[in-house]
Amino acid sequence: MRKPIIAGNWKMNKTPEEAVELVNELKPLVADAACDVVVCVPAVCFAAVKPLISKRGCKIKLGAQNVHWADKGAYTGELSADMLKAAGVEYVIIGHSERRQYFGETDKTVNKRTVAAINAGLKPIVCVGENKEEREQGYTDTIVSYQTLMALTGLTNEQVEGTVIAYEPVWAIGTGLTATDEQANETIGVIRQAIAGKYGKRTAAKVRIQYGGSMKPSNVKGLMAQPEIDGGLIGGASLKAVDFSQVVNY
Ligand code: PGA
Repeated sequence: MRKPIIAGNWKMNKTPEEAVELVNELKPLVADAACDVVVCVPAVCFAAVKPLISKRGCKIKLGAQNVHWADKGAYTGELSADMLKAAGVEYVIIGHSERRQYFGETDKTVNKRTVAAINAGLKPIVCVGENKEEREQGYTDTIVSYQTLMALTGLTNEQVEGTVIAYEPVWAIGTGLTATDEQANETIGVIRQAIAGKYGKRTAAKVRIQYGGSMKPSNVKGLMAQPEIDGGLIGGASLKAVDFSQVVNY
C-alpha cells in the first residue's frame, strides 16, 4: 500500500549541460517505472532539468538537496523553500549525513528545515542514520529513533504521513558497504515503531521509509523485497543512467 520511491542524490556532481545529458538518457529508461522517481540535482541544474521532465507522463520528479527555514533574508548561500517551489522542485533532501558531518547540521536545524519545506508544499526526504561507532556500541536504535522524532517535531499526523524518511547508515554511504537486507529492514522497522509510538500505528504505516547507502543494481532486489523498505536514496549509482534505471526498475 505504500508506493515505493527511488530518489537519486547527485550530491555535488554534474554541470547543467551534464545534467541534461543524464536526464535525457534516463527518461526512456524509467518511462514505465512502477515507483516514484526523483532526481535531487544541484540547484544550478534546476532550470536545465525542469523543462525536460515537465511533459505529462514523465515519471521523473525534481528534487533539491537542502532548504533553509527562513522565508528570505541575510543567509548567504542558502535557498528558501519558496525559491525551490518556484524552480519546480517537488522533493527536498534534509539532514543528509554529509550535511550533518561537514556543515554543522543538527537535529534542531533538520526540524526547522523540515517544517519550512512542508509549509511551502515541498515533500521532505529526511535522512537519519548511525555511524560506525554508534552501531558497534549498540546505539543504532536509539540514534535513529531520536533523529527521526526530532526531525518530525511539531508536525501534524497528516504532515508526518507526507514525509519520506531515508535510513542511511553513515558507514554504508559511498563506501561500497551495504547494510544487509535484514539489518536495513530491522532498523527501518525500529524507525516505524518510533513514529508509531508518537503518532500512532496508522500514521506510521503510511510513512515511506527508504534505505540509502551503496544501494545499486546488484543489491536493490534483496533490499526492496524486505517488507519495511519503501525505496532507496541512491548516491553513486544515480550518476549513471543505466545503473539508476536498473535500481528504479528493480
Ligand atoms: P551512496 O550515497 O549510494 O553513494 O552510498 C547514498 C547517499 O548518500 O544518499
